[in-house]
Amino acid sequence: MKLGSMMILGAILIAAGAHAEGAMPAGTVAAGKAKSAICAACHGMDGNSTDPQYPKLAGQQASYIYRQLVLFKTGVRQNPIMLGMAMPLSNQDMADLAAYFSAQKIITGVADPKAVAVGQAVYRGGDRASGVPACMACHGPDGRGNPGAVYPHLAGQHTTYLRTVLTAWHDGTTWGKTTHAEIMPTIARRLTAAQIADVASYIAGLHTATPIVPTQPTVNNAAFATNPPQQ
Ligand code: HEC
Ligand code: HEC
Repeated sequence: MKLGSMMILGAILIAAGAHAEGAMPAGTVAAGKAKSAICAACHGMDGNSTDPQYPKLAGQQASYIYRQLVLFKTGVRQNPIMLGMAMPLSNQDMADLAAYFSAQKIITGVADPKAVAVGQAVYRGGDRASGVPACMACHGPDGRGNPGAVYPHLAGQHTTYLRTVLTAWHDGTTWGKTTHAEIMPTIARRLTAAQIADVASYIAGLHTATPIVPTQPTVNNAAFATNPPQQ
């Protein structure tokens, strides 16, 4: 194994293994698909939930999905529904489910035009006055996150869900006591309710830099023009 990939794996193990759940096993998409039927009721067959209180899992980092399932199962991330869902899962099940959902394409939402100015400013630049760092520093300019560091994909997530988690962190919820888990509560505490609403809406409409290939090429979609789909 190359040193680089060992370091990435190390980061995942440190983040996911905080509760002695062991290493993240290698998951497979096919096995995950077979195990995902029970998840579809809330998260959608392909991980694109329609009810905005349930997060979309499509395109999410496998390392992040795995970490969350471990956190739910151990009760560190407290949610009665997901506690029940994660309880019977083995580490292998979690890794397979993570592989399956991460391989699906997320269907992004649309930002409220009135939220874009503030939402984009916070996302790209943070808020110096209140000590909020730029979201894109970790989640990426296109909201894709960083699998090695277990920073989740955000782009296209439901506004409702994003507001719920950011507000919960703002109000004192944490997902454990690790340095990693403290990052978001520390940031969210400094956001106002209005900033949370606007940045959540902005993120819901954020597209990835590699566009979801449109059925009709549009004139101003530069990325599509320079990188057309292969027939
Ligand atoms: C009855 C509805 C329901 C079912 C079925 C369900 N979930 Fe969830 N799931 C939720 C809810 C609600 C949340 C949000 C929890 C919160 O707010 O902390 C969630 C959150 C998650 C998250 C965290 C996502 C994120 O962006 O942080 C993951 C991962 C997840 N579920 C995976 C699964 C998997 C895998 C299954 C199937 C084994 C499953 N869920 C089945 C309701 C459900
Ligand atoms: C220093 C890195 C860092 C910065 C900066 C950062 N985040 Fe995060 N973010 C994280 C990490 C790490 C997690 C996952 C936390 C966990 O798993 O315990 C996360 C998770 C999230 C989630 C949960 C996603 C989900 O699917 O449940 C949201 C929403 C979020 N961040 C929004 C933001 C916003 C908005 C900003 C800017 C105001 C921001 N983040 C800035 C590191 C960062």
